[in-house]
Amino acid sequence: MSAQTVDVELGARSYPVWIGHNLLPSYAPLLEALSPYSQRFLIADEAVVETYAKPLQAALQTAGILTHLITVPSGESSKSFAQLERLCDEILAHQPDRKSVLIALGGGVIGDLVGLVASLLLRGVAFVQIPTTLLAMVDSSVGGKTAINSRAGKNLVGAFYQPKAVLADLTSLQTLPPREWNAGYAEVVKYGVIRDAAFYGWLEENRDALHKNDPAILTHAVQHCVAMKAAIVKADETEQDVRALLNFGHTLGHAIEAETGYSRVLHGEAVAVGMVLALKLSAHLGHCSAALAEQLTVHLRAMGLPATLHDIQKDWSIDALIKHCYGDKKAEHGRLTFVLARSIGDAFVEKNTPESAVRSVLEIELG
Ligand SMILES: NC(=O)c1ccc[n+]([C@@H]2O[C@H](COP(=O)([O-])OP(=O)(O)OC[C@H]3O[C@@H](n4cnc5c(N)ncnc54)[C@H](O)[C@@H]3O)[C@@H](O)[C@H]2O)c1
Ligand SMILES: [Zn+2]
Repeated sequence: MSAQTVDVELGARSYPVWIGHNLLPSYAPLLEALSPYSQRFLIADEAVVETYAKPLQAALQTAGILTHLITVPSGESSKSFAQLERLCDEILAHQPDRKSVLIALGGGVIGDLVGLVASLLLRGVAFVQIPTTLLAMVDSSVGGKTAINSRAGKNLVGAFYQPKAVLADLTSLQTLPPREWNAGYAEVVKYGVIRDAAFYGWLEENRDALHKNDPAILTHAVQHCVAMKAAIVKADETEQDVRALLNFGHTLGHAIEAETGYSRVLHGEAVAVGMVLALKLSAHLGHCSAALAEQLTVHLRAMGLPATLHDIQKDWSIDALIKHCYGDKKAEHGRLTFVLARSIGDAFVEKNTPESAVRSVLEIELG
């Protein structure tokens, strides 16, 4: 029950990320962190209620820490105004004060939703993240981005709001469906491609052991990603600059999600294809060799991920994909923003990507 700790250093809003195996349900620093609050609301994805939420609630109760358990339906559709309103109403019915804490137990959907509720409730109450998916552990639970979706698009209603602590119990990944695990892995690879060639090389060497949830390898991978994310968030909390690199693969990734209705294709799967396309675009614009996209394609496919648009479906509208790229939050003044790469480990933000280049790459991709 020992954990590695990565500190997210944000002055008065700093917090620890605890990473290890068998930490749930009764990791002592978590119990300590939760004990000072007046009321505690454990908000869990329905898929993890029996496996993790109820044992955690029981362990907390044994330690004299009482919680209200609230369940949220699984899936992206819970990042909605309807769930936001419902959670606020259910919590407010218990007459919480500003010393209350929300505990988000689940994947990125629960973390994003509960974080936003915490930021709004009584103008801000504390919240703790307990991510149970690989994606949430390496990405969404750290850094304070919270959001729900609206009719106009994904993550368009949100706030920057940091948690008080994050607990990543890697043992909980053992129940994660393989497809979800693979999708989370896309975000792991992303860290290597954008900033860390050595980590990318390490992933290529260790990917099979990682895929089998080898404890030491998995711990290293998650710890490394969280440390990288913590450093990026420390340098640029509100995404004015270097944090934008984390959007690598996401401009076309989000377009793919939008075109496929946000349900059939998982976020990480869309990002996997988006990353390969971003490397193809980088090569097309003369920033790197075509071999980079090929190398990443081999790696992603070996991990059970799609790497081309045709791996997802046969028919695509290039116009529609490009239109979604313009709709991206990162598009400024009607220009296309892409994260491109010069080599593995050396990505940069291109705020003025020519539409004609994106179109050419998509035509070759679908030709
Ligand atoms: N805030 C950020 O910085 C950030 C970053 C990346 C992604 N996101 C958001 O995260 C969301 C995706 O997160 P996700 O991939 O974790 O999806 P998710 O929360 O939908 O979880 C994936 C699926 O796994 C199930 N599940 C979760 N944990 C489980 C476990 N341990 N065992 C069995 N089943 C389990 C869930 O019920 C769900 O069906 C998207 O909405 C995306 O926009 C946010
Ligand atoms: Zn992502």
